[in-house]
Amino acid sequence: MQQLTLVLLASFWAFCTGSGDWCYQSQFTCDHPCNTPEKWGHVFKDCAGEQQSPINIVTRKALKDERLTPFLFNNYQQMFRALVRNNGHSVQVEVPHLSTVAGGGLSTTYKAVQFHLHWGNNGGPGSEHTIDGEQYPMELHIVHMKQRYTDLKTALSDPEGVAVLGFFYERSSSVNKKYDTIVKSLKNVIATNGNTTLLPTSLAQLIPPQQNLTSYYRYKGSLTTPGCTEAVIWTLFENPIPLNNEQLRAFSDLKFHNGKPMVGNFRPVQPLNGRQVFRSGGVVILSGPALLAATLAVALGLSQPN
Ligand SMILES: *[C@@H]1O[C@H](CO)[C@@H](O)[C@H](O)[C@H]1NC(C)=O
Ligand SMILES: *[C@@H]1O[C@H](CO)[C@@H](O)[C@H](O)[C@H]1NC(C)=O
Ligand SMILES: [Zn+2]
Repeated sequence: MQQLTLVLLASFWAFCTGSGDWCYQSQFTCDHPCNTPEKWGHVFKDCAGEQQSPINIVTRKALKDERLTPFLFNNYQQMFRALVRNNGHSVQVEVPHLSTVAGGGLSTTYKAVQFHLHWGNNGGPGSEHTIDGEQYPMELHIVHMKQRYTDLKTALSDPEGVAVLGFFYERSSSVNKKYDTIVKSLKNVIATNGNTTLLPTSLAQLIPPQQNLTSYYRYKGSLTTPGCTEAVIWTLFENPIPLNNEQLRAFSDLKFHNGKPMVGNFRPVQPLNGRQVFRSGGVVILSGPALLAATLAVALGLSQPN
């Protein structure tokens, strides 16, 4: 009996540890062995680095930094018709290099290159970053590179070449009409390598209004997929994007290369290794007496600099 177990175990290992492409844990099957996140570092050396992403953000340890001012979004309202593609790991949209961000404590202007998402199983936990251990249902990554670069590969050779703006989602009871174009495009990219053209959409319509983007976290990390290059200035916005359950679930209709549902396409959180996480100065929640005092100060002109 024991011998049979051993034989079974041995064949299990022989069958299941064969190398393959990188994948998420949810994609692994014995029929299609692939390198799950804990093995990425064996094949892609940067994935075993000291400044990896995503991370869990412990809010009480985030240091307030006055230099983390609001972002200046340029051409984020620009409508575009872009290529939407199931790349086997996510749904990715290549955007024209027209929309830029500056400010927000960035040293220079960065332009948007592509965006993609990470999600759970039918609206379950699926974000990559977590806040005080909480995992949101989905996370949007708008990938930017320094204005002067023309391709992401070159930008990744600069330790601050890439800036990713990360947004969390929350389940809401009402449909988010601004996501109609993205959600509708999903049915045309169910299969890996499937592609379609997005109906006119802007980056601005996919994220919260600008006045809701002043509270955010900042740290230095990496791409969250192989090669895991440590060249990313991360920004995670506190204000989540609302989607209803049906919209969140629509992403789970996509398929991995092996035909399994594309769910749980997030990398587990990585060790901080002494890195400091900063938060913007805009995280001020005024209430009660403080709010009254602030309102009075404004009314009396006390906050005017002259
Ligand atoms: C889009 O899909 C078609 C097949 O449906 C394929 O011929 C084409 O190469 C794909 N384009 C891209 C950019 O992936
Ligand atoms: C913007 O922030 C306010 C205050 O927190 C919130 O009530 C509102 O729902 C937010 N809007 C969006 C679109 O997230
Ligand atoms: Zn991502």
